[in-house]
Amino acid sequence: MSAEGSSIEAVCVADPRVKVQNLKKVFNPKSVAIVGASSEPGKVGYQVLNNVIKNGFKGKIYPINKKAREILGVPSFPSLLDCPTDVDFVVIAVPAPMVEGVLKECAQKNVKGAVIITSGFSEIGKKKEEQALKDVADQYGIALLGPNTFGFVYTPSNLNASFGPQNVSPGKVAFISQSGALGISLMGWTMMEKIGLASVVSLGNKADIGEKELIEYFNDDPNVSVILIYMEGIKEGRQFMTTKIKKPVVILKSGTSSKGAQAAASHTGSLAGSDKIYTAAFNQLGMMRARTFTQAFGAACALSMPAPKGPDSLIITNGGGIGVSATDECENSGIKLLDDPAWLEGKFRPTMPEFGSTKNPIDVTGGGGREGYQKAVRVALNEERIHSVIVLYCETAVLDPVEVAKAVIDEYNAVKRNKPLVVTMVGGERSRQAIQILNENQIPAMTEVREAVSGLKALYTWQEISSRSKEKVVTQEAPVKALAVIDRVRQEGRTFLLEHESREVLEACGVPMPKWGFATTADEAVKVAEKTQMYPVAMKIASVDIIHKSDVGGVILNIKNAEEMQAKFNQMMETVKKNAPNANLLGVNLCQMVDGLQCIVGMNKDPQFGPAVMFGLGGIFVEVLKDVSFRIVPFSEQEAARQVSEIKAKKLLDGYRGQGAHKESIIKTLMAVQKIAEYVKEIDINPLITNKDGSYAVDARIII
Ligand code: ACO
Repeated sequence: MSAEGSSIEAVCVADPRVKVQNLKKVFNPKSVAIVGASSEPGKVGYQVLNNVIKNGFKGKIYPINKKAREILGVPSFPSLLDCPTDVDFVVIAVPAPMVEGVLKECAQKNVKGAVIITSGFSEIGKKKEEQALKDVADQYGIALLGPNTFGFVYTPSNLNASFGPQNVSPGKVAFISQSGALGISLMGWTMMEKIGLASVVSLGNKADIGEKELIEYFNDDPNVSVILIYMEGIKEGRQFMTTKIKKPVVILKSGTSSKGAQAAASHTGSLAGSDKIYTAAFNQLGMMRARTFTQAFGAACALSMPAPKGPDSLIITNGGGIGVSATDECENSGIKLLDDPAWLEGKFRPTMPEFGSTKNPIDVTGGGGREGYQKAVRVALNEERIHSVIVLYCETAVLDPVEVAKAVIDEYNAVKRNKPLVVTMVGGERSRQAIQILNENQIPAMTEVREAVSGLKALYTWQEISSRSKEKVVTQEAPVKALAVIDRVRQEGRTFLLEHESREVLEACGVPMPKWGFATTADEAVKVAEKTQMYPVAMKIASVDIIHKSDVGGVILNIKNAEEMQAKFNQMMETVKKNAPNANLLGVNLCQMVDGLQCIVGMNKDPQFGPAVMFGLGGIFVEVLKDVSFRIVPFSEQEAARQVSEIKAKKLLDGYRGQGAHKESIIKTLMAVQKIAEYVKEIDINPLITNKDGSYAVDARIII
């Protein structure tokens, strides 16, 4: 295959690895062409060319314009094909109807990277037109950003291929934004805050290159140490789940739509909602989620710091209130404060006035002055027992915040940035300036205590995430017996399994069951219960026509012996026949009564991510508290363990006031339901009762 009139062979490369490789041409090109470059300052094509030139790009620059011979002092060419040398990367800023033709010229010119700034594609329903661009990019292995983007900036190669602001400060953070407008405004904000960036990429419609490809490219880019993503949604959830994470990724995700949830029939479905699934996906991939952009940038900057060599953190402050607030934040986010009063007194007393406090927070007080801060910071940085440092400052008339900032910078540089250090400065104009000076010197500084602490927390979280690399995800095979039951039900034309069928399937998968059985007569019920020593027993009616069993008298609990079993069986049959005269009664499900904490395990299908497994507190709690966590199939045993410990009520699972859970069997259940996740629509095990001896699927429902 070849592009129209082209002799370049298509390499057919929808292969994402080739696209990732070719992103090198996008970020580090030797030559750049801007198709649609214009001499009119109001036009996008002018702004992009101007940015490329003014930002000091060292390679060849080719403005492409049908009429002009020179734009902004640079010789211009009527077409890409007229460029005198190879072109590595092309910016396309011509009206939508022309874009496909220009992209085909890129193919002819053997260009491997392009960004389409032009709007007017899938965002206004023109999906076919956008697909045509993707097809050309795939045929010729072009790494294609956009369309509908403002372009990108990559500071290591001095390339500003955008119509956003100029002079982005260099740094180590790559910022990927799905929103163009927000991307541009945050570029401006980072410049004001003096936060350095390695790159800002506007994703636009993500016809080709998306988050996954960029993360995987920046994984191997030594100029990037942290990736920050503003995301609205993911097109291909399953593909996104295959993203390899080698560097810290911070995600700011907007939108909490629960459309998927409305359509679902089961508990699991109604609790899913896309935001919970996104949270699951991020946790599972090892991405860290931020809730505000200041928190996101705070975390990204902190993540550029050296890793802490241990858990013990130290707070240095000049104000008691702000110190307490930081202590609270540390406790809430699980940051451990070094707690050795005698040792701290010995080390820090010489750094402060009599009335200062050497408990952690170290309070150098308003009277400490620049020297007090400097000495305290020096001790904190030089003592190996202190693994991370939080410096707080409240503006006072006696101490200039800029002086404090300079003291911190001097001390930090003197120890060659040996441990993480974050700063919060609260005050007016001078504090603002001090924050900017710190950020310029790659010391993360913020106006809020919470953000400084959550930045530090991100570093600790990343350490934990990095240690997961050896975990293996093994795809769980579906047992033949389980598939046979599902097939049989499908052939009968039913969309749901009866309880005993659900039990057969789940038991075959390895879900732990209480003693259970199925009986069609009272005598048979007695036999089943006696044979397995099942008493006390719960009895439930089995009928394809009855969904809410209790409503028709189809549930009797705590049957203690054979005599009761006989009587209750007959009583249930009579009552149900009266309440549901048209129902075909197949028999009863019998199940041993179990005591313990009621949990829920479920599975449903997310439109983007596919099967997702839920865990949480069950029974009535699930309706009221909705305290559940999700994971996307497939996931590892270690991931299941993290899922279990993610619910708010995890203390109950650890054993609170006599309650307690058998975590191993809960994890076993989460692993087991994965085996049939691809073959059914929804699973509800509610409740899964857990106690110190084990966990038991007391009720089970499968929809196919
Ligand atoms: N080859 C060479 N030159 C060409 C070609 C071609 N195939 N086609 C057009 N040109 C020239 C034009 O002659 C013109 O040059 P001139 O000014 O010397 O006459 C120049 O390229 C631009 O073409 P225009 O037709 O003038 O197009 P205009 O600049 O008005 O619009 C644009 C093009 C900017 C791509 C527009 O179609 C568009 O999509 N705008 C929206 C961009 C956007 O917002 N993107 C999303 C950003 S993210 C966010 O929301 C912030």
